[in-house]
Amino acid sequence: MKIRRANVRDAAALARLLKTFDWFPHLQAETFVSTRKRVARDLKALNADDSHSIYIALQGRQVVGYATVHWQPYFILSAPEGYVGELFVSEKVRGKGIGTELLAAVKKEATKRGCSRLMLLNRRNRESYKRKFYAKNGWTERKDMANFLFMLEK
Ligand SMILES: CC(C)(COP(=O)(O)OP(=O)(O)OC[C@H]1O[C@@H](n2cnc3c(N)ncnc32)[C@H](O)[C@@H]1OP(=O)(O)O)[C@@H](O)C(=O)NCCC(=O)NCCS
Repeated sequence: MKIRRANVRDAAALARLLKTFDWFPHLQAETFVSTRKRVARDLKALNADDSHSIYIALQGRQVVGYATVHWQPYFILSAPEGYVGELFVSEKVRGKGIGTELLAAVKKEATKRGCSRLMLLNRRNRESYKRKFYAKNGWTERKDMANFLFMLEK
């Protein structure tokens, strides 16, 4: 298993992994070609500057996991925060250390960048939350925070 930064040439392999997730009905509804094109467009945008990092875990040519992180400076923090937007491992290979390794790559880069902390959201009804994946990896839950969304018409 190899972990490296993703580029636009990884769009098809990433789209193949995304199509295996049954949590997101809109992903299931779109064709493989649409997913690949969307992922390619997003990878291009994300890699256009130094504000984001996309890591993929590869087994041969197959992408079996990925993590996205957005590096965010804050006026109220002494050093930037890394926001882990997505962390997913293929259902077939969960529990084999891949998620932990992807997080380790993110932590390594965060340290190199001089960040003050990492942040992410984890639904309480997910198995990862119930099995304390992040707590076991040293993350602290912020029980005093509420998470708000403002939905825009689309
Ligand atoms: C959560 C996730 C990224 C962890 O990656 P992983 O490679 O499976 O995890 P690792 O092998 O590195 O670590 C093992 C730990 O992961 C968690 N884990 C293992 N299998 C899991 C599964 N099928 N589903 C959810 N969490 C799992 C457990 O906490 C486990 O520790 P335990 O065996 O002591 O209970 C991965 O299971 C996954 O993609 N789950 C579904 C998506 C998700 O919940 N993502 C996080 C949203 S923020």
